[in-house]
Amino acid sequence: MLNLNNVIFFSGTSNLPLARKIAKNLKIKLGKITVKRFADDEIYVNIRENVVGKECIVIQSCSTPGNEYLIELLIIVDAIKRLQPKKIVVLLPFYPYRRQEKKIEKGESITAELVAKLLHSVGIDKLIVLDLHSKVIEKFFKFPFRHITALSLFVEYFKKQIKKKTRKDFIVCAPDRGALTLNLKLAQKLGLETTFIFKTRARRHDVVMGMKLMDHVENKNVIMLDDEISTGGTIVLASRLLKKNNAKDIFVAVTHPVLSGNAVKKLARAPIKQLIVTDSINLSKEKKISKIKILSLSKILAEEIKLLNL
Ligand code: R5P
Repeated sequence: MLNLNNVIFFSGTSNLPLARKIAKNLKIKLGKITVKRFADDEIYVNIRENVVGKECIVIQSCSTPGNEYLIELLIIVDAIKRLQPKKIVVLLPFYPYRRQEKKIEKGESITAELVAKLLHSVGIDKLIVLDLHSKVIEKFFKFPFRHITALSLFVEYFKKQIKKKTRKDFIVCAPDRGALTLNLKLAQKLGLETTFIFKTRARRHDVVMGMKLMDHVENKNVIMLDDEISTGGTIVLASRLLKKNNAKDIFVAVTHPVLSGNAVKKLARAPIKQLIVTDSINLSKEKKISKIKILSLSKILAEEIKLLNL
């Protein structure tokens, strides 16, 4: 267990609302820090706390603009490191460059590994990540880490929505093979049946080519769980396919609402009754459309911090 009196909790600029909520849960204040820009847009950081001998935790969600937030995080950690802290823990609710965890073609970089190397190079002692796009990324961490999941938030949420009597009217459907394990876990915890969609991607980035539904969903309410929605391609096509197969209401739950490009517009028009997301990424007002319900990770993350063993 961590002695919170010896902890300074800093936040980058990517997701201050979540950082504030976690600090509130821990009953501590956010560490004072200045993050500014030079005229040429380079980032300036100054740590306004005495961190000598302290356990410093830095939270940053490296969502769009991920390049900016990643560099900002590295600079923050570097600045802290120069002040002789006891330990530095980085809390990354959203891990950047997560989708390039392997080479598809010769000549490519493995950027998920590069991010891990960068974090290592600035001297972090521990990393906490949440629902990584692929478990493969874990092998890039050459330092202690914790990989936690938001699954319990979704389980709690759906348990409240689904009455015992109506359980038979629901089915969990993995939108692709990658999401199957996660969906099976959710279904098991909710006591629901499961099916999945077979998805094929085009060679072009971010494009879904085809989908095939494996079981009947007729007259069932469907829950689909995934790690993220980026362009919305996967979930929008999956929800249309489910509707075509006479599904009733469709609920989608994802940890990371990346919502790039015109994903919000597509999701607004898609036959999805509710989209349940977490605050791993701080959504702008325009993206918070009425069908989006945000569940906060603050409790889970605060508990994780309390249990840190450094
Ligand atoms: C598999 O590729 C992932 O689990 C997600 O389904 C994917 O990242 C979502 O991307 P998009 O919203 O662009 O289809």
